[in-house]
Amino acid sequence: MDLSVQIGKLRLKNPVMTASGTFGYGEEYADFIDLNRLGGIVVKGTTLLPRQGNPYPRMAETPSGMINAVGLQNKGVEHFVNEIYPRLRNLDTAVVVNVSGSTVEDYVGVCERLAGLKVDAVEINISCPNVKQGGMSFGTNCASAESVVRAVRQVWPGTMIVKLTPNVTNVAEIALAVEAAGADAVSLTNTFLAMAIDVERRRPVLSSVTGGLSGPCIRPIAVRMVWQVACAVSIPIIGIGGIMNGRDVVEFMLAGATAVQIGTANFIDPQATVKAIDFLDDYLTRHKFANARALIGAMELE
Ligand SMILES: Cc1cc2nc3c(=O)[nH]c(=O)nc-3n(C[C@H](O)[C@H](O)[C@H](O)COP(=O)(O)O)c2cc1C
Repeated sequence: MDLSVQIGKLRLKNPVMTASGTFGYGEEYADFIDLNRLGGIVVKGTTLLPRQGNPYPRMAETPSGMINAVGLQNKGVEHFVNEIYPRLRNLDTAVVVNVSGSTVEDYVGVCERLAGLKVDAVEINISCPNVKQGGMSFGTNCASAESVVRAVRQVWPGTMIVKLTPNVTNVAEIALAVEAAGADAVSLTNTFLAMAIDVERRRPVLSSVTGGLSGPCIRPIAVRMVWQVACAVSIPIIGIGGIMNGRDVVEFMLAGATAVQIGTANFIDPQATVKAIDFLDDYLTRHKFANARALIGAMELE
């Protein structure tokens, strides 16, 4: 079965990627799966300068999900370029760098530094709910989302995916704005702003009080948003949100996603990605699809 799909200039061998922040730099999972089987790996959020992230506790379990407030802990783009990239470049899978920042200049600085490398794509994270400055605020109105995308477009000639926040009233409007500003694809969703309270201690569970909700509890909302965006834009969509298995991959693709990312599921089953690829292959055969591309938006309304 031909599972390949196209995202901008990037051809993925199959639609299943890993979601940023849930799969490290891929190496952490190499004992569990053959990384070369993946459609792509989206690495941890990378910023211009190193970031400590938020103080602990910064994770909480919830029914069918988790809330995190890691806060983009990473060692900065220079560390990625010198220490991490040389180890990833020989993998036979797409390597996508998730880029975060507090200012437009931060995003531009990281992408300029990456432009010399053979990184397959950048994913511009304008949707992180766990940082005080920048982050999600760029993704919650059209003008600021456009300003990041336009500025990055000047320095990044390769495939640019823009990762959208679900914490807006009209996600399709933001998707249309970033498409017009030069994005090659959108990925959605990032986590949903959430909080949990320890009732015995009468204190918030997370040090940052609020965090981002992920896992299967968000999936139906994410599927709805992918469908709404698919009805609005012409660029490819990467569906994210509570994908646990191959059935869920198919659901997002029927809603209009060209590819997907698997996040929280990796913490529960480190082989979730490859099992989902096997399911997809079998599903396409059983349902007599010619290839994976034929599944994109194939939901029937009547
Ligand atoms: C612990 C953790 C860290 C994350 N870090 C990032 C990040 O650095 N950049 C980003 O764009 N998204 C980050 N995310 C969001 C995921 O990439 C994904 O969009 C979200 O978790 C929804 O997918 P899921 O339900 O499959 O986990 C993080 C999520 C989790 C759970």
